[in-house]
Amino acid sequence: MPVSPPRAAAFEILLRIDATDAYASELLHSLRFSKLSSADRGLLTELVMGALRWRGVIDQAIAKHSAQPLGKFDREVLTALRLGAYQLLFLDRIPAHAAVNESVELVKQARKGSAAGMVNAILRKIAKGPRDRSDISHPDWLVDRWTQNYGSEIARKICDYNNTAPRQAVRISTIQSNVGTAAPGCPRAEGPIDKGIEANSEPNRAVLDGQPGAAVPTWSLDDLRADGICLVPGNLLRNALTVKSGDITHSEAFRERRLIIQDEASQLVALLVGKGKAFLDCCAAPGGKTRIIAEQNPDSTIMAMELHPHRAALLKKLVMSDNVRVIAADARQFPLDKKFDRVLVDAPCSGTGTLARNPEIKWRLKAEDILRLQGYQLEILAAAMNHVAPGGRLIYSTCSLEPEENERVIEKALAVNAEFRLVDCRDELRMLKERHELMIDNIESLLSGAHLRTIPGVHPTDGFFAAILEKK
Ligand SMILES: C[S@@+](CC[C@H](N)C(=O)[O-])C[C@H]1O[C@@H](n2cnc3c(N)ncnc32)[C@H](O)[C@@H]1O
Repeated sequence: MPVSPPRAAAFEILLRIDATDAYASELLHSLRFSKLSSADRGLLTELVMGALRWRGVIDQAIAKHSAQPLGKFDREVLTALRLGAYQLLFLDRIPAHAAVNESVELVKQARKGSAAGMVNAILRKIAKGPRDRSDISHPDWLVDRWTQNYGSEIARKICDYNNTAPRQAVRISTIQSNVGTAAPGCPRAEGPIDKGIEANSEPNRAVLDGQPGAAVPTWSLDDLRADGICLVPGNLLRNALTVKSGDITHSEAFRERRLIIQDEASQLVALLVGKGKAFLDCCAAPGGKTRIIAEQNPDSTIMAMELHPHRAALLKKLVMSDNVRVIAADARQFPLDKKFDRVLVDAPCSGTGTLARNPEIKWRLKAEDILRLQGYQLEILAAAMNHVAPGGRLIYSTCSLEPEENERVIEKALAVNAEFRLVDCRDELRMLKERHELMIDNIESLLSGAHLRTIPGVHPTDGFFAAILEKK
């Protein structure tokens, strides 16, 4: 019996994620699965992300009906069981026989035929049992941490947010956009949002709406709408939009990299970097923040550094601004003796602020990783501080919710370097508000002391932290 393409692809992706450190979002968008129909792509995403988000609930159900502990199953068998159980427990429109039979078939095709009978029996029992989805499906140690650091109400909000598919945010050019005044709902082609998006398309300079300097539109919301994509204004930023419906990754604008998917909190961090002449972006790939810095500072030079050559190559492809120079190097051993007036350290981190998008992280991460990461972050930060010009600023950020990777890193770095002072992010946010870049009224809700702090579920964004240090 053949297995349907989305289930076969989901099985392959879930196996890869289990066996390697690959990310679901990257595999889902890889060329290998680009030929799937739009409906099949939708089901594939649902199967992979759902099975990862709800693994806690799914594993409990499997364990309840299995004679052997989950750790004893072959990877292929457990993956087929999880895939089948997810459909049975969470998806209403999939007939139980399809979920069960295709998982059995996947096991056979993976040459684990001896387990087919057991997979069939366990899934049939799950199909007949109650649909108990009450578990929050996060490792206890993470929930305990968040409860301790943020309180039980917020910890619950974080888990709930992580368990739902977040809306995608996209960034549009700063040129001529006026998203904040757009009517709610899917915007009309002639609305101000469209102009903002159209203006994003480089490179031909011309006059748009009587204003010199804007770019000739080569695509618009009409193009996206024809592809079934509906965008609405963002939640925090004037130049952000959120995808209300449709698959933006299959639009021409996305394929041609004129439209970038980027969480609004990540966009906000890039805006905090501010204005300057010489920029260093220490941990730059894939380049979401580099792109905004370049766009905000067209007359400046930006050095974008990235440790891994393949990621540096990706950055080069994604950020095509003339004023960006990409180098593959370790930020801890910066190869040039040069000072910059703005330095961004968007540090490698646990990513616990991004679990709605990257649910695999919550099952991979170990409690002991947090302090190991702190050591690495401190090494990068200390090296980067050596390259800030007098009077210049360093912005340190992570997408982690853990204070050890955030406040503690800043405290430790400042304790051994008296040349820097902490700048209150409040002032920068106020400035962004005055410039109508930041659209929300309650700036205080974005702050934790002097730092920027977004929390998934409290804010409709990923969880980001940022601190600004200024060299005296
Ligand atoms: C959080 S991501 C950066 C995201 C990026 N700033 C953006 O907005 O798209 C951190 C990046 O730092 C890179 N990295 C890790 N260790 C590094 C090091 N020692 N030097 C430079 N880059 C490093 C990672 O490969 C990863 O691409």
